[in-house]
Amino acid sequence: SRTYLVTGAASGIGEATAARLRAEGHTVIGADRTIEAAGVAIAADLATEQGRAELAARAREFAGGRLDAVIACAGLAHFTPDTLKVNYFGAVATLERLRPLLAAGTDPRAAVVASVAAVHPSDPAVVDAALAGDEAATTTAAQSAIDRGEGYLLYGSSKAAIARWVRRTAVTPDWAGAGIPLNAIGPGTVLTPMTEGMLADPATRQAVDTAVPMPLHGYARPEQVAPLLTWLTSPENTHVTGQLLFIDGGAEALLRPT
Ligand code: NAI
Repeated sequence: SRTYLVTGAASGIGEATAARLRAEGHTVIGADRTIEAAGVAIAADLATEQGRAELAARAREFAGGRLDAVIACAGLAHFTPDTLKVNYFGAVATLERLRPLLAAGTDPRAAVVASVAAVHPSDPAVVDAALAGDEAATTTAAQSAIDRGEGYLLYGSSKAAIARWVRRTAVTPDWAGAGIPLNAIGPGTVLTPMTEGMLADPATRQAVDTAVPMPLHGYARPEQVAPLLTWLTSPENTHVTGQLLFIDGGAEALLRPT
């Protein structure tokens, strides 16, 4: 039995992933904004430095200094700079700050939930500032996208940036060199509280379906996404690293046929 830390464990994909791991007999330390939900032990707002530090400190305490896997699911899809703070800087902080605990684990693995939106149009200024690790400049660039009426680019920008961070980080001595696979997944539209409101409104639903066409099996349930995350972070995954694996019913193949 292994010890996993899952962020965003209160809802949607994170909740389903934690449930699957627990059903397999593993220990899951859940993290989310609050500890109101069952299965969440650590309250940490990943949009803030204080929350990121809290996550690292509490994880070390709960896990006894070692973790076998980290799965970063926490995220949001708002047209605000917070989308970058959580989806990019919060995810990077989760992975970087828990890496020392992974280094002490057995068959350590890490995965982060990006999105098929990583291949949607993005704002290069936002992506570049994020990858440069400059959170203040990222917020400024995000605000100017919003001011131009292009706030819709921020979610895709956050996911493009985290997927690129994974790709370049996975092959460094700290990760590949330490025997730790690090991957991202790119779900299409998944039926969770994040998408509930969008899909309830016919016009928004049509926009979602155009942006994320899913010819294979349509929308996914979070339980259908969890197994990819649990496999990527299992000891069976010895050689998949640095990848963005789409689990999107064919959306990425349709959007980028060549
Ligand atoms: P959800 O809204 O059901 O769950 C997200 C969880 O992240 C929530 O429990 C929320 O409290 C937590 N979270 C948000 N901001 C946080 C913060 N500042 N600090 C700590 N925790 C925070 O959404 P869902 O759909 O399960 O999303 C999980 C991940 O999957 C996200 O990264 C999302 O971008 C990604 N995703 C979702 C898709 C979908 O169609 N639902 C498609 C592709 C990717």
